[in-house]
Order: sequence, then structure tokens, then C-alpha cells
Amino acid sequence: MNKAIEDIQKESLEEIDNAKDLKELDSITVKYTGKKGFITSFSKNLSNLPSEERPAAGKKVNEVRTAFESALAEKIVSIKREIEEADTGIDVSLPGVRPAQGALHPVTIITREICSIFSSMGFNIAEGPEVETDYYNFEALNFPHNHPAREMQDTYYVSENILLRTHTSPMQARVMEKEKPPLKYIVPGKVYRCDSDITHTPMFHQVEGLMVDENISFGDLKGVLTSFIHQIFDEDTSLRFRPSFFPFTEPSAEVDIRCVICRGKGCRVCSQTGWLEILGSGMVHPGVFEYAGYDTEVITGFAFGMGVERIAMLKYGIDDIRKYYENDIRFLGQF
Ligand code: PHE
Repeated sequence: MNKAIEDIQKESLEEIDNAKDLKELDSITVKYTGKKGFITSFSKNLSNLPSEERPAAGKKVNEVRTAFESALAEKIVSIKREIEEADTGIDVSLPGVRPAQGALHPVTIITREICSIFSSMGFNIAEGPEVETDYYNFEALNFPHNHPAREMQDTYYVSENILLRTHTSPMQARVMEKEKPPLKYIVPGKVYRCDSDITHTPMFHQVEGLMVDENISFGDLKGVLTSFIHQIFDEDTSLRFRPSFFPFTEPSAEVDIRCVICRGKGCRVCSQTGWLEILGSGMVHPGVFEYAGYDTEVITGFAFGMGVERIAMLKYGIDDIRKYYENDIRFLGQF
């Protein structure tokens, strides 16, 4: 009995292993576990055995049946998978390929964040032309005719009087020409300068700010910019206003923040000074108001301009501005 059932076990498992398709498996099933199948008849014949042999033989038959059924089930799965692969040419057992997901560019993320902070303070958002006239880019902003920024080495000229704007400040002149105070505007956009190294790209982004009304003071400028810096960096970022010069603001100030990398101790990023320059600002020069036709006796205002790439570099710890424009998905996908 034992020898016979063991032979059947061996043969049946071999047959399953060699089966080519589901039809073959069907007949193997009938042959062994069908009504008159070999394994079935062993079960039926148990009652003919002497009673002392019955338990051991019963156990053996059950083992053989279990081994048969699990081998059969496995073989069915593997044949089905082969069929599927042959149909579709796809190996369904391979891990899936994740579709590439789009993400916002870090410059877009920071531009939106800057705009949303100023919107919450009541500033309107405006945009203006990147191809600009000499009048709005320089003339109406009080630049003298011999100002170095007007040189061909610094500015991309389209023709004698048409150029790619070198800053977003021309929008100050455009907005004031159209509207009367009070006004509060924020202007995001691309600007262009003939410059290229690890901290400069020929095209970069700025956000301009302008607030004009009666009785606007330097205190308002400090309040608005302090609140902005505490929101875009963090609450305890200290800042300082350093005297500076722009033809279209008087007085002018550059705003520095405590180095976000070393917290003021001095490092490579802040050139050991503990401070980082992040924007230019000042009280709107009366000469600019005159171009707009405002009464310089009652109207005052402030303006500021910041580089978006620079703010994003500081926030995210990016060390080379050119990374923004190399279009490497591994870099761009991180934000
Ligand atoms: N336009 C200046 C620049 O590009 C920044 C600035 C804007 C300064 C507004 C003062 C007021 O450097």
C-alpha cells in the first residue's frame, strides 16, 4: 500500500510539473482526484484494510491529496500568468512604473508665497511688459543719462530706445501714470541683465512693491518689510536697514537679514559678515512723482524690489543659481 501510494504521489507531481496548459491539468485532475481517480480509489479502499493499518494509511492518503492539490493550484497560477504575458507582452510580476508627476518650479513657489503675503497686507498684484522702453526703465525713474546701468554691457537693447527691462521698477512709473493715490501694488516678473556666474543668470525674477498715499513714512516701509521677512523666513529673523543709493528712491536702504545658514556667526554664504542682503528699498524720489504728475508736497510713498531666486536659494539652501535653469528633474522635483 505504502509503496503504491508513494509512486502515485511521485507520478502525479511530475505530471503536474510537466503539464503545458490548463486542459492538460484538467485531465490530470480527473486521473487522480476524479470519481475514479487513483488518489480517490485509495481513499475508498481504506475500509478494506485491516483496522490497525487504517489510521496510518488514511494519514498518508491525505498527505498525498494535499500535496497534489497545492502543486496543482500553483501550476494553474503560473500557467495563467504565462498566458497573460503572452497576450500583452507585459510581465505582470514586475514592479509598476510610477508615472512622472509634475511639480511647481521653486521660483514659482516662492513668487506665489511672496505675492500671497503681500496680498494679505492689502497689496494688489500687477504685471508689466518685459520688453520695455528706455523711458519707463530709466528716464521716468530719475536715472541720469550717463548712469552706468544704461551701458550696453549691463542692459540688453532691442533698439536704441527699446530694451529688456533690467528690473521690475518700470512698473512703478506705469502704475502711477494710470492711477492716483492711495495705491498699493506688488509686481512679480522676469528681468534681464548681461550677467552670468554662480550668483547671476541673464534672466531672473524680481518682485517689486509700491505703496503711495499721503503721510507714508519710512516707518511704514520698515513695518511692512519686517512683517514680510518674518513671514517668508521665520518670526525671529532679525533684519537691518543699511543706507544705500537708487536714483528713484531717497533715502534708500538695502535690507539685510541675519544669515539663515550660520545665524550670524559668519560663514561662506554670508562672506563671514553674519548678514545677507535680500532687497533694495527706499522712499519714492520726488522726481519720480513729478513724472507721474503727483503733488510732491502731500504725496509720499515707498518702494522695494527683491530677487526671487535669491530668496529661494536662502530658504532652500541652494548654492548655485544656475541649477534653477538646468531643468534637471532630480533637482526640480524636490520642492
Ligand atoms: N530696482 C532695484 C534693483 O533692481 C530694487 C529697488 C526697487 C530699489 C525699488 C528701491 C526701490 O536693484
